[in-house]
Amino acid sequence: LTSLVLTLTETLRYRGALGQWSWVLHRITGLGTLLFLVLHVIGVAWSVLYPTLWEKEVLIYQHPLFTVGEFALVACVVYHALNGMRIGILDYNPKWWKHQQRAAVYVLIGTVVLLVPTFILMFQHVLKHYQAPEAPFIVSLAFIAEAQFPFLVGIVVAAVAAVLLSGVVGLVSGGGNATVSAKANRGSGLERFWWSFMRTSGILIVPLVFGHLALAHIVQGVFELNMVNAGIAGVPVNESLGALANGINNSGTAVEYVAERWNFLLGSVAIWRLYDAALLALVVVHGFNGLRYVLTDYTQGSPLLRRAAGYLCLIGAVVLLVVGTVALLGTIDQSMVDMAREAQAAIRAGGA
Ligand code: HEM
Ligand code: HEM
Repeated sequence: LTSLVLTLTETLRYRGALGQWSWVLHRITGLGTLLFLVLHVIGVAWSVLYPTLWEKEVLIYQHPLFTVGEFALVACVVYHALNGMRIGILDYNPKWWKHQQRAAVYVLIGTVVLLVPTFILMFQHVLKHYQAPEAPFIVSLAFIAEAQFPFLVGIVVAAVAAVLLSGVVGLVSGGGNATVSAKANRGSGLERFWWSFMRTSGILIVPLVFGHLALAHIVQGVFELNMVNAGIAGVPVNESLGALANGINNSGTAVEYVAERWNFLLGSVAIWRLYDAALLALVVVHGFNGLRYVLTDYTQGSPLLRRAAGYLCLIGAVVLLVVGTVALLGTIDQSMVDMAREAQAAIRAGGA
């Protein structure tokens, strides 16, 4: 905690030092995106595991508060991506270090230049939604709190499990320095790997996450994920294919939207499943290793908490990778879509 306070006070003290501000912004935007990712991967997996819960999740995505969060999320991803590329490029080219300050300014300018047209296009979807003849359906705050509460419980349980595990490992190893120093060499090689991984994975994530966001916010928009008879972004219309693969959201459920995307075959390859699998693997490992860097910085004084930070990130990454992969390998059939349609109708009728 002391080092967290130190980070914030030092940042304020060095007001004007752009490098310091861009470091803090990079950290906040990375953590913000990771928090969303945790809720999102589990939410999407529900389309296969508990269809009615994904239906609820998308209604929450359409709440005005989330619309604000959606603009913030896109801003976080764009800034973090551009600044991450700056870090990567400069790290591999020490001769350019003298241009650090200027590069940080370019990142800010680049972020604004990308965000202005993106926000205008996103805002058109918001306007269209609120100007539609039928009044938009908005879930209550109590509905959101109830749906998100299990996530909070899950995060707390994972944190407690990590601290307990760290305590047990500490007891078993006797907190011996010998173990720590024996691992130190291996650790430094491993840390070099992670250093390079963060930079290469970052570059690979850029086209994947920008493509994903372009589909979800510009081409289609969050409000169209559960729109009756809407087309499906990235899936051509082909009436001759079955109801869950014809490129049209016949039922108007968010569950059918995912089914259509994941059922689409190019040749015989389910390209959107492959795309999502690559995105899942890269963002989860990159994001949780980033979280490990952050938590390690703030737990220097306590070996127990430092180890626990590592375990927490490992638990988080494994859970998301397993849940996300199970979903990607699963099948959504008509009975699940029907279940989602009934749940959606009940929520709308109940005026949640
Ligand atoms: C509000 C913003 C977003 C919306 C509406 C959205 C929507 C969706 C939808 C509908 C799917 C289901 C499959 C598909 O259509 O491909 C999906 C899957 C996925 N999204 Fe997003 N997305 C958003 C932001 C993000 C961001 C910022 C990330 C990464 C940081 C991300 C990572 C993923 C991953 C990894 C999957 C696959 C999940 C799995 O394996 O089960 N999404 N998203
Ligand atoms: C869009 C492309 C991305 C690029 C180019 C990128 C690049 C980077 C780079 C270069 C670092 C610094 C690594 C280091 O200090 O060794 C980093 C840190 C981090 N990234 Fe990303 N990243 C991207 C996407 C993401 C996403 C989608 C997430 C969340 C799921 C994320 C979360 C983090 C976190 C939490 C950190 C640690 C921040 C810190 O140590 O202060 N990044 N990123």
